[in-house]
Amino acid sequence: MSTLLVTGIGELVCWGDRPILKDAAFVVEDGTIAWVGPRIQQPQADEIFDSGGRAVIPGFVDSHSHLVFAGDRSAEFAARMTGESYGAGGIAATVAATRSATDEQLTANVARHVAEMARQGTTTVEIKSGYGLTVFDESRSLAIAKQFTPETTYLGAHVVPPEFADDPSAFVELVTGPMLDESAPYARWVDVFCEDGAFGADASRTVLTAGIRAGLMPRIHANQLGHGPGVQVACEVGAAAADHCTYLSDEDVDALVSSGVVAGLLPGAEFSTRSPYPDARRLLDADVTVALATDCNPGSSYTSSMPFCIAVAVREMGMSPREALWSATMGGAASLRRDDIGRLAVGASADFVVLDAPSHVHLAYRPGVPLVAGTWKAGIKVA
Ligand code: NIG
Ligand code: FE
Repeated sequence: MSTLLVTGIGELVCWGDRPILKDAAFVVEDGTIAWVGPRIQQPQADEIFDSGGRAVIPGFVDSHSHLVFAGDRSAEFAARMTGESYGAGGIAATVAATRSATDEQLTANVARHVAEMARQGTTTVEIKSGYGLTVFDESRSLAIAKQFTPETTYLGAHVVPPEFADDPSAFVELVTGPMLDESAPYARWVDVFCEDGAFGADASRTVLTAGIRAGLMPRIHANQLGHGPGVQVACEVGAAAADHCTYLSDEDVDALVSSGVVAGLLPGAEFSTRSPYPDARRLLDADVTVALATDCNPGSSYTSSMPFCIAVAVREMGMSPREALWSATMGGAASLRRDDIGRLAVGASADFVVLDAPSHVHLAYRPGVPLVAGTWKAGIKVA
């Protein structure tokens, strides 16, 4: 099998024992990293890619997105920017558009966004259902998502759809019964939007426990719009991640520390809803594992850009550029319970990004600038 030598790397972010190497090189064999070290010790290889002194980083791991949708909510965004507030209610508009779309339209929409993400350095993305909310539409959303990623999440419990408004508990029965049965074969994870206007603590526990019984691993939307029980539920059920974490009590932070649940921070949501940003510094100082993700969805965070999230996390959330990059790579991998991605060490998947920049600091130092020169997944150039 042929080998690829990536050399001339001014700065290589690989994490592990020596997190950042200068003047480095690495070898890819059969889609994985086979050697990493100083350029002067580089071995021979069949092919050579010279980075010309630029920085190379692990591909971004975007651990939270809602890409299976149709329609557009730019008018809702514009109204928010002139004073309207965000609530879970807007989700119903996307649910209606998604139900009316064909499989082909939904698949093309996911493909477009996944390609957009690859151009911005993302090599792994988690994709949720949650805009179908019928047995048919949730399972087809997941079947479509699974064509693009193994990290698919069943979010039948996104909101109670209008047809169940008078009987929300009947909807929870559907979500934990026939909808779960049809969706589980296409999903790795189960999620619930635990929030006022969506699902409370008891319903959230019921949904996650049913998903676990069906062989799915739990993650949760928690504490996004206000203080609430989401983080505590995540810690009780042993969720991999509690995402959003915008409003946290000291008890919530303690629970994250002792349970090891990853806190997923999604600054695109606060940006797009003009809300206060989560306090990443408080979590890092307490030794919570932090992941950064886009939350890409048409309502609360319509960005697919991990570099944008890094820049905002550095400017507004108290993270250093290095911490933000770690959270966007290793943190995302931890959130998805993966140890083969998010780092560039021997044995890891050769998912890497060449930056048009001499160091990873430029991701935050040059916000809004397209710095991704190329993206490789398992050693193959995808953008
Ligand atoms: O993560 N919080 C729940 N779900 C999405 C919002 C979806 C929407 O507004 O359409 C989120 O922010
Ligand atoms: Fe979300």
